[in-house]
Amino acid sequence: MLAHHRPKWKTHIGFVLATVGSAIGLGNIWRFSYLCYKNGGGAFLVPYIIALFVVGIPLIVLEIGLGHKMRGSAPASFASVSKKWEWLGWWQIVFVMFGIVLYYSVIIAWCLNYFFFSFDLSWGPNPDNFFTEVFLMNTDSPFSIGDVRTIILFSLAVVWFLNWVIVFKGVQNGLERASKVFMPILFILTAVIIIWGLRLEGAAAGVAVYLKPDFSQITNIKVWMDAFSQIFFTLSLGFGIMIAYASYLPKKTQIVRDALIISGINCLFSLLAGIGVFAVLGYMANTTSLPVSEVVTESIGLAFVAFPKAISLLPAFSNLFGILFFGSLVIAGLSSSISIIEAFASGIVDKFHYPHKAVVSVLCVAGFLGSIIFTTQAGINWLDIADHFLTQYGLIIGAIFECIVIGWFFKVNKLRGHINHYSGWKVPIFWNFCIKVISPLILIAILISSLIEEFSHNYGGYSPVAIILIGRDWLIYSLFAALIIAFQPWRLDPRQRMLIHEKEEDKKVS
Ligand code: PFF
Repeated sequence: MLAHHRPKWKTHIGFVLATVGSAIGLGNIWRFSYLCYKNGGGAFLVPYIIALFVVGIPLIVLEIGLGHKMRGSAPASFASVSKKWEWLGWWQIVFVMFGIVLYYSVIIAWCLNYFFFSFDLSWGPNPDNFFTEVFLMNTDSPFSIGDVRTIILFSLAVVWFLNWVIVFKGVQNGLERASKVFMPILFILTAVIIIWGLRLEGAAAGVAVYLKPDFSQITNIKVWMDAFSQIFFTLSLGFGIMIAYASYLPKKTQIVRDALIISGINCLFSLLAGIGVFAVLGYMANTTSLPVSEVVTESIGLAFVAFPKAISLLPAFSNLFGILFFGSLVIAGLSSSISIIEAFASGIVDKFHYPHKAVVSVLCVAGFLGSIIFTTQAGINWLDIADHFLTQYGLIIGAIFECIVIGWFFKVNKLRGHINHYSGWKVPIFWNFCIKVISPLILIAILISSLIEEFSHNYGGYSPVAIILIGRDWLIYSLFAALIIAFQPWRLDPRQRMLIHEKEEDKKVS
């Protein structure tokens, strides 16, 4: 049986935009700003930038290089290294697709709701109360599920429908085309928001809080844990996405240059968006005569509480500002959620040869149904616990294995040789040391500190039962699911599959 025909990006810029689209998401605006805020403003930037250099960049090079060499999704790529490691690829895409994306799409749905609320500033004079009591109707325990919030359910259906339409159309006509439209719009909207924000009175004080790090926070291990998990989240590392996207690249390509461009644009975007966010917070502090540090008390709700508050205070065109802000969040979110649906679908197609369109359709229906729990009145509590465990543990543990498998079992030098063979910019030998030693050691240290922290008190003050059932077990069940899929037979041996694609590619080149 021949391997199915492997899709390809139509243009190189299409690949870069799609990958940047995956990287830039809610994480860059919603997550980055509340993490920054929570961790002493700019103090967060120091560990964040260190995390970018010591693990972010080395791992993005690894993932793009691996997908390009193995010509396959994450499971196919790890299976080509050795069948023993196939489960790792499945685990990554399973807990992201049936974990992270389930709540991620609900946040996109909130943004869509807030986009429409912006037209008449529906949140009224008390956005705090509006968000928790009127919009979410939040119960205080994860086990008081309450009702599904229909208004959120409705926009969630729209989000999954859009996800489906884009991914269904395939790599060139769906993902690539959407990214070529989404990304320029997102950049323009963000530029408008930043310039607008910086012209407001008090903006400078807000930006100063952001850019003048409070170094007393640097000794706090929690700040480091957040910085490392944020780097994974923001670069979509450990998601299996970069591997799948790189597998659609032509043989001759620029792996190192692309990895640097993608991580550079992504992190620059976060830093600039942070300036916009803090400028607006500075304005709000100025108008309410409070210090910047006091204008926001929310964490996860920062975008939905502090921002609406600030928007209502704007001197002119406040609804337009809200529309731009929430509109850009929707676009950023969608360009990321489509990437994991494709990464998962490509895993299934590689292994079982089911038709791509059917796989995507089933996945999107399943994703929609799975997301519904986060639209209930206990949704934000579930989201908080799931986000903490899946990003702080799932992404980090997955990445530790990734480094060990490639560094020690596959022989990292082989991969470096492959990358350097095709890349104009070369990977230095120091990279081997990063993947084999530095990155895994740092990640293991972060993991151990997270565990110590975890055992010293209940995360977020939730009950231990909630933490175990919603947080830890989510990871364990996804691991079981990954093992079960990994034990199923391949329609075509993964290495043979890779060789066939390679030959196909050679024929095209010659
Ligand atoms: N890099 C994305 C972000 O920062 O928002 C993370 C992401 C989440 C990617 C969910 C893909 C995804 F489906």
